[in-house]
Amino acid sequence: MVDVSRRGLFGAGAGAVAGVGLAASMGLSRPAASAATPVASGQTHSPYGDHQPGIITPTPAAGQLIAFDLLPGTDRAALGRLMRVWSTDIVTLTEGRPAAGDTLPDMAQPGVSMTVLVGLGPGVFELDGLQAKLPAGFQEIPPMQHDRLTDDYSGGDLLLWISADDFTSIAYAARRLIHDAEPWAALRWAQQGSWRGIGGDGEPATGRNLFGQIDGTANPKGAELDEALWSTDDWLAGGTQLVIRRIEMDLPEWDSLIRHQQEVSIGRDLAHGAPLTGGDEHAEMDLEATADGELVIPLDAHARLAHPSQNRGRTMFRRSLNYDDTTSVGLIFGAFQANIAKQFIPVQRALDDFDALNEWTAAVGSAVFVIPPGMHEGEYLAQPLLD
Ligand code: HEM
Repeated sequence: MVDVSRRGLFGAGAGAVAGVGLAASMGLSRPAASAATPVASGQTHSPYGDHQPGIITPTPAAGQLIAFDLLPGTDRAALGRLMRVWSTDIVTLTEGRPAAGDTLPDMAQPGVSMTVLVGLGPGVFELDGLQAKLPAGFQEIPPMQHDRLTDDYSGGDLLLWISADDFTSIAYAARRLIHDAEPWAALRWAQQGSWRGIGGDGEPATGRNLFGQIDGTANPKGAELDEALWSTDDWLAGGTQLVIRRIEMDLPEWDSLIRHQQEVSIGRDLAHGAPLTGGDEHAEMDLEATADGELVIPLDAHARLAHPSQNRGRTMFRRSLNYDDTTSVGLIFGAFQANIAKQFIPVQRALDDFDALNEWTAAVGSAVFVIPPGMHEGEYLAQPLLD
């Protein structure tokens, strides 16, 4: 369930009232979103719940992923101390209050859509007392023929995925969380990207990647989402497993293609993300349809190969960010699922063998994390594992 409280464009309380007046006097209007439509920006998310926020909560504009290595002395008990400290930080940061001992308390602010997602890498399950707790199906992604992996954005014992409306809020949170981890864990890599989950009319919309494609349309919903996403495995019940792939995209080559070549490589149009077999963005693809004796959605089209019907029903929940650090441009691809071995890996293998997109994409970083369930008041993250 998406757990948000609405703050509106200018924050909460008296400021919000003044802000609305100002917006009205400037002739600005913000379409009223229905209560059922989750809005990506201007939110204050609850840090509590059965699931961690930052998975199915809408993707706000800015995101940073930070991976850490555990320091040599960090054992199970020490990891528990770090998780307690981070959990306290996360409650205050997401609620927009300064953390204890904060040197920059004036930067704390509600209504910036802050979430801080915590993940545990494979190294955590090598610690004494935790080997038997390794969740079923949690493993590194085996090498793929199109990979061009480097260590720069691969691996990690711990992950923080900070999401917010802006990079100033993220930088403030990251500084606090990195500082508080210092006795137990050191920075391994950090990568940041952006996403635009809002259309030109101010309404929630599926965002676009840097190929210009609408990306995220066919993510599972409802009961199918619950089934694909949430683990029911022992201590991880209510949690999930995350694959992060930093996928470089060859934009000059992509830009040299004609629009039809770009569209058939996916099987959807660029304007609306609609299947090439017709309908709107959310219409079902017709994988049998032909024109002039040819399949309309070719056999190597990405959306065909990744479709659950071609993968024995396997699916996953994707949440990605676009990155552009001038030397490299692409997608920080995130896929959440209950079981990496059963869901992500077989789909990735099929794509590695046949996907038309392989001509213009290559994974340059890869990492996997167990995402513990959410916490409730008085609890800390990963408590069911560490207590
Ligand atoms: C840079 C790399 C990638 C790009 C540009 C890309 C782009 C897209 C686009 C445009 C769609 C169609 C719209 C949608 O449903 O979201 C799509 C669908 C999908 N992609 Fe990717 N993708 C990439 C990598 C991957 C990877 C690595 C995987 C998993 C191994 C994956 C899995 C999927 C799945 C499961 C779907 C939904 C298929 C369906 O149910 O119709 N994608 N992708």
